Amino acid sequence: MTCIVVTGASSGIGAALVRLLSEHHPVVGLDRHAAPGSPVIGCDLTDPASVAAALARLPDRIGGLANVAGVAGTAPATRVMEVNLLGTRRITEALAGRIADGGAIVTVASLAGHHPGFDDDVRRLLAADDDDVLAWTRTAGLSGAQAYDVSKKALLRYGRQLSARLAPRRVRSCTVSPGPVETPLLPEFEASMAGAVERAATWTGRHARPEEIARVVAFLLSPDASWISGVDVVADGGLTARRADDARP
Ligand code: NAI
Repeated sequence: MTCIVVTGASSGIGAALVRLLSEHHPVVGLDRHAAPGSPVIGCDLTDPASVAAALARLPDRIGGLANVAGVAGTAPATRVMEVNLLGTRRITEALAGRIADGGAIVTVASLAGHHPGFDDDVRRLLAADDDDVLAWTRTAGLSGAQAYDVSKKALLRYGRQLSARLAPRRVRSCTVSPGPVETPLLPEFEASMAGAVERAATWTGRHARPEEIARVVAFLLSPDASWISGVDVVADGGLTARRADDARP
């Protein structure tokens, strides 16, 4: 059975996904923090040499890739773009050719990627190289929170582009957009999103558990999702619908 590669595997949604997938599949985790003795390979997605070393340890053929690693908007804008967009793109471009016929790429985006604005910039950023993306981020003077929105909006578009590009090889690509999730990253979202996380809980009653997002990612990776590609699945406990309804006059 071909193995699934999961980034961000040491914590939160990624760790929950590794636990879930491991019940039926070989899984290899990649993470900047790999505890000694854990099955996770140490890999900083922002460091090309670190990614190259990790790639050398991965099988030539894999069944799928889950892009889960990410940082919140409390980090500086360039760091947010380096991890969330450029790191994800680096590992995806490196592994896409290894994904077997019928496999899939599932990328964790965010509801933040659905915020309005930056559409033209995102289109240009996806056609730009890493240096130009970082130069634009500096010039645009984005806050970390704005960079988070842009990085996730770019992942939504990138996921759709991959779907079209990889379809001839029968490889699917989807994204998942969670609302707030109870992970170690949540306090950072609370700090960077100006009350949005707390407001979300007043609508939904609680935040998602990591397993609830991991199950969606696992489904999209699986053959059960064989006719689903190029779409974003919002997993937010109904938050988007409630927010839209409350905004109506
Ligand atoms: P987390 O902090 O628990 O896990 C993220 C993992 O990514 C960590 O293990 C971290 O070491 C790893 N990572 C960070 N930078 C890395 C790098 N440069 N190279 C390799 N690994 C790196 O966070 P959580 O909440 O599980 O987040 C997973 C994904 O879900 C992220 O992409 C995040 O943006 C997204 N998300 C999370 C939400 C939440 O409320 N927790 C809401 C919406 C989206």
